[in-house]
Amino acid sequence: MLASYTKAGAIAKTMVTRAAGMVRPGESILELVDTIEEAVRETGAALAFPLNISRNEDAAHDTAGPGDERVFMPGDLVKVDLGVHVDGYIADTAVTVDLGDNGGLVEASKAALERAISLVRPGVSAGELGAAIQDEIERRGYRPVANLTGHGLARYSLHEAPTIPNIAMQGGSVLEPGMVFAIEPFATTGTGRVSESQRIEIFRQQAVRPVRMPTAKKLIENVRPRSGLPFARRWIPGNKVDLAIATLRRSQILHAFPVLHDVAGSLVSQAEHTVIVTDDGCLVTTR
Ligand code: CO
Repeated sequence: MLASYTKAGAIAKTMVTRAAGMVRPGESILELVDTIEEAVRETGAALAFPLNISRNEDAAHDTAGPGDERVFMPGDLVKVDLGVHVDGYIADTAVTVDLGDNGGLVEASKAALERAISLVRPGVSAGELGAAIQDEIERRGYRPVANLTGHGLARYSLHEAPTIPNIAMQGGSVLEPGMVFAIEPFATTGTGRVSESQRIEIFRQQAVRPVRMPTAKKLIENVRPRSGLPFARRWIPGNKVDLAIATLRRSQILHAFPVLHDVAGSLVSQAEHTVIVTDDGCLVTTR
């Protein structure tokens, strides 16, 4: 188990670095995600979720759509968030690439992450990590995003305890040896709260129920190997994919992850590592 976590972490680190290197003005977002996702699969590992590429006021959950023609623009602030798993054991890591003049904002989420990591040890509460993250971001003149959090990781699952807030909170989970979780501070020039946009590219199967519609049935067969982990709309072959998705969402078989954004014109940065709590600190698997 530990070997799988560290292997996933090493692959995630290599690949997120490679992805970040491809973020240049004029570069196609679709080409970037295709290239990196294929490179991850070639290692023998798998994607824990589609490669997230979220720009500017978009904080999370964007990725290329089918035939996506968007390219990176000068000035873009680009979050690259990658999840890799080996045998279901997940490494989740993110970096922000600045194609403009926003080094301070990028540094804020990075410094907050480093400070939180330095505090991780048994007995510390998740709320204390949130307080450190908030302090580090605010002292640099930005706001932490209050309604996005780090999260525990379990086999084939991205949504476990503990929740790691990005703001000070009373209590929360008390860290114990062996806990595995991602810490992901977001710093913003906006309001510090994200909301859901209309754009949705990422989904996961959340329930197993019989379906009649042939294209919906085919889609479910297609995503069954995901074991409940998220997938991208562009991964699904065939036509009438959107109709199948709409049907499966209505019967609550699929859960949607809309793009999450702060207010228009704001900028959001993110930094993320996955850690395993040890007896006297933590092991960062994605460093
Ligand atoms: Co994460």
